Amino acid sequence: MSDAIAKTAQKAGTTAVQRCILPACAAQFGIREQIYVCPRCGGPLEIEIPLELLKSVPDLRERWQARAASHAPRDRSGVWRFRETLPFDTDAPVVTLFEGNTPLYDAPRSAKYAGLTALRLKHQGCNPTASFKDTGMTTAVTQAKLLGARTVVCASTGNTAASLAAYAARAELQCAILLPQGQISPAKLAQSMDYGAIVCEIAGNFDDCMRLISELSDVPSIYIANSINPFRIEGQKTVAFELLEQCGWRVPDHVVVPGGNMGNSSALGKGFDEMLRLGLIDRLPKISVIQAEGSAPLARLFAGLKPSQISADAALPDEIAPIANPRTLATAIRIGAPVSWKKALRAVLRTHGSIITVTEQEIADAKAIIGRDGIGCEPASATTVAGIRKLTAANKIHAGESVVAVLTGNVLKDPDYASNYHRGTLSFESATAEGTAKTVPISGAFRNAPEKVAANKGAILKSLETRR
Ligand code: F0G
Repeated sequence: MSDAIAKTAQKAGTTAVQRCILPACAAQFGIREQIYVCPRCGGPLEIEIPLELLKSVPDLRERWQARAASHAPRDRSGVWRFRETLPFDTDAPVVTLFEGNTPLYDAPRSAKYAGLTALRLKHQGCNPTASFKDTGMTTAVTQAKLLGARTVVCASTGNTAASLAAYAARAELQCAILLPQGQISPAKLAQSMDYGAIVCEIAGNFDDCMRLISELSDVPSIYIANSINPFRIEGQKTVAFELLEQCGWRVPDHVVVPGGNMGNSSALGKGFDEMLRLGLIDRLPKISVIQAEGSAPLARLFAGLKPSQISADAALPDEIAPIANPRTLATAIRIGAPVSWKKALRAVLRTHGSIITVTEQEIADAKAIIGRDGIGCEPASATTVAGIRKLTAANKIHAGESVVAVLTGNVLKDPDYASNYHRGTLSFESATAEGTAKTVPISGAFRNAPEKVAANKGAILKSLETRR
């Protein structure tokens, strides 16, 4: 890079600001201020990059692509190779595990199941700690280093915790995570223990953990790494850039993601929006968010919007009604009061997408179909294919359109779920109208249970014959 261009890129990083997203406030703060919500009005913050400076940098797309073939640590990261768009100086103490650069797969069986001619799956479960969280944790923990934090903390349904624990270990920072006791997949919990985090099991659900985290926000030595932190979103937005690159910069018609705390949908919305403002694409994909039926506060809000509130520049509602006791076997998204709902809703409205729910049975069957494509994912990720199937049936997605589903976590994140599905032992504690719990069995439409086979060649060949 020439000196002049390098300086321009660096300036783009250092002249970024944190801004309140609520138009009536829009207060602006420096990027080294340790804040998580707007100190003036309590609204969500986002990083504003001076994109106009980048417009003068030639061949950005080629520059980003070329770095993917380099062995320099920053270039090898699928996040930091897009560093011109990140709010950091060129000498920032980057904490990386070489996240990003995840595959985009064709998934013909999932496409057919969902009623499409073709479907591509962007597998964020191929990240270093096996979920999409790593793309945001590299920037959040780098910011923690810059701010001189001693401890990094988060509330989590498991994946944020595993990711933060790993990046904190790399950065030699103390890490404490708050998890809802008994509501986390053992595989995710094991990761956090292995990476050396202080694991606090809280008697409560994820939303209780998140409330406790907010109470820690005034302790200067503690840095919060949940997606309420706008530096997390900066890393996660690069997934949009990488996806566009993999699509040859042809914008897909639809990008579909699961919704929990709503950081991922917010980040993708920001990423596509920045590429549009930079002139690197000429339209936005429709971003749709899928929630599990028992944990769907934003889908409920969306369904209740008046037609006048469903437009690209509509004012956002002030409040969301939380779900007091969210339920789903997709524990990653068992969340009743998502912190980033306003940013996510803004992204969906701007792009004319949808927010819908899917049932436990639909999630389970979609997950098995994704597995049949040889890909596999954790239950929360499978909401996407289940949701696309519904959107196709409702004519919101058309069979020939180009559709990308973002798979957020690896199949090995929750092996018990997969095993129970295939053995026919999966069941869901659903809430009745009276507020009590009722056990509902999940039938495995695509069951594939192991069978006992005698230890001889004939028995094996017979087994192959009967399963042909
Ligand atoms: N998929 C997986 C596998 C997740 O772990 C999460 C969130 C989501 C989807 C939803 O993403 O919150 O950005 O809307 N997991 C968080 C955690 C809450 O603590 O690991 P979101």
